[in-house]
Amino acid sequence: MMTNSQNNELEQTIPTNMSEDFRDKVAFVTGAASGIGRTAALAFARAGADVAVADIMEEGVQETAQMIEEAGGQATAVRCDVTQAEDVQAALDETIQTFGGLDFAFNNAGVEQERLPLTEITEEEWDRSIDTNLRGMFLCMKHEIPLMLDEGGGAIVNASSGAGVKGFKAQAAYSASKHGVVGLTKAAALDYAESNIRVNAVCPGIIDTSMMDRFTGGTEEGRQEVIDQEPIGRMGKPEEIANAVLWLCSDAASFVLGEAMVVDGGQTV
Ligand code: NAI
Repeated sequence: MMTNSQNNELEQTIPTNMSEDFRDKVAFVTGAASGIGRTAALAFARAGADVAVADIMEEGVQETAQMIEEAGGQATAVRCDVTQAEDVQAALDETIQTFGGLDFAFNNAGVEQERLPLTEITEEEWDRSIDTNLRGMFLCMKHEIPLMLDEGGGAIVNASSGAGVKGFKAQAAYSASKHGVVGLTKAAALDYAESNIRVNAVCPGIIDTSMMDRFTGGTEEGRQEVIDQEPIGRMGKPEEIANAVLWLCSDAASFVLGEAMVVDGGQTV
């Protein structure tokens, strides 16, 4: 039987309302013009955070900011190519100028790879995957972390993939980039563990976004082929990844760092 004092201690450690962790805080989301990034940006805003949304697609990211504002949140939109250090720096400068700080970052911008066996992957395709999916994450963290240190801490989530924990046929460049994200995340988590910055990764399974449409060709057949990889029998929804991202950023995850959280309907089990 639990005593009252034990009960009180439990109440103090179990967060009852995650939104309290996000109110008056600032989140930065890359790849926010579409799919998982847009949905996560909206989720941060609904939880009470001000959100800076960045993407190489200017029109799309402005639309995301508008969606946030229409839902009653605060947003600023920036065109940013995550492979360019000066773009990343400028987007974060804009975040600080608009909202005065940085508490959370979801480094999500990424590109898929055409399905090809390794010897048919061109050097350009290799560079495109590594530059966006891996170098982009490095550049974002390189410029986000000093801002979080100024705030006394923060939380970062990097978008890896099921392809970051398992090899996939005809996906050598993409798999290499996403495995790289996991290594980068773990090393960065150790570098800043004592500075109250938690760095984690999320590894989504098959998620129903425009990236997945391009990957499958958008046909019923193509969609079914990837659904067949999912023990749960369906694609995931962007919201199901956004939930994991917000949880990793919340105080509920205060002891979680360097984790590559797989959210994949069982695809890699
Ligand atoms: P998406 O294609 O809908 O969104 C990706 C966004 O990243 C786009 O808005 C695009 O403009 C942006 N982007 C691409 N290159 C960029 C650059 N250089 N600078 C800034 N922005 C750039 O894709 P989705 O599905 O939302 O993917 C988001 C992340 O989740 C990616 O990192 C992807 O690899 C990862 N992921 C997605 C899965 C899925 O099944 N959809 C599965 C596993 C991982």
